Amino acid sequence: MKRAMTGCVVLLLAAGCEQDESKPNYEYTPDMVSSVPYDSFAPNPNTKDGKTLLSPAKGTVPRGYKPLHLTAGTEEAARAGRELTNPYAASPEVLARGHVAFTRYCSPCHGTGGLGDGLVTARFPIPPSLLGDHAKGLPDGQIFHIITYGQGLMPAHGSQVLPEDRWKIVHFVRSMQNPPQTAVKEKP
Ligand code: HEC
Repeated sequence: MKRAMTGCVVLLLAAGCEQDESKPNYEYTPDMVSSVPYDSFAPNPNTKDGKTLLSPAKGTVPRGYKPLHLTAGTEEAARAGRELTNPYAASPEVLARGHVAFTRYCSPCHGTGGLGDGLVTARFPIPPSLLGDHAKGLPDGQIFHIITYGQGLMPAHGSQVLPEDRWKIVHFVRSMQNPPQTAVKEKP
């Protein structure tokens, strides 16, 4: 009996060690390998649209998502400047997050300091400085719109950067434009 068991174990081990990689190995518990339910992306004869994963109902939005009532374009960018205000206060946490997001999403083109000297400018048109008078004059909402929908040669970032991060980036850009004044000691 003992011998027969050892033989079985050896056989099983050997079956699991098939060397020919071009062929599937022996399946000794096939039920565990072939899934009984439909796979998420497999066609499905039981659903209306023939897909296993049903499409969300029309107009579905993710939790916490606030739809934006604006579309792309310069007119809409100007409207964003008039109608949107930054919902966050410029706390140290907000600025820190804005800094991280700016470094990730904007610095490759705009440079870590916003001067327009990012790494890709060796092969990509140099963007205007974010510390220049024009950028300084842009209202917060318009910068939010530029990040969301892009502008001219700048691609849209609405699908990459969360709305809350866009607003935090706006605060960070403002902090670069107006660095806090440190008290200068008067000479004795
Ligand atoms: C792929 C490179 C690229 C990336 C990434 C990028 N930008 Fe830009 N950005 C540009 C270019 C180029 C322009 C000039 C667009 C134009 O008007 O043709 C521009 C313009 C702008 C302007 C308008 C400046 C002005 O004075 O008119 C703002 C504000 C701005 N970008 C902010 C950002 C922020 C914030 C991010 C990160 C979320 C970002 N950009 C990411 C390339 C980029």
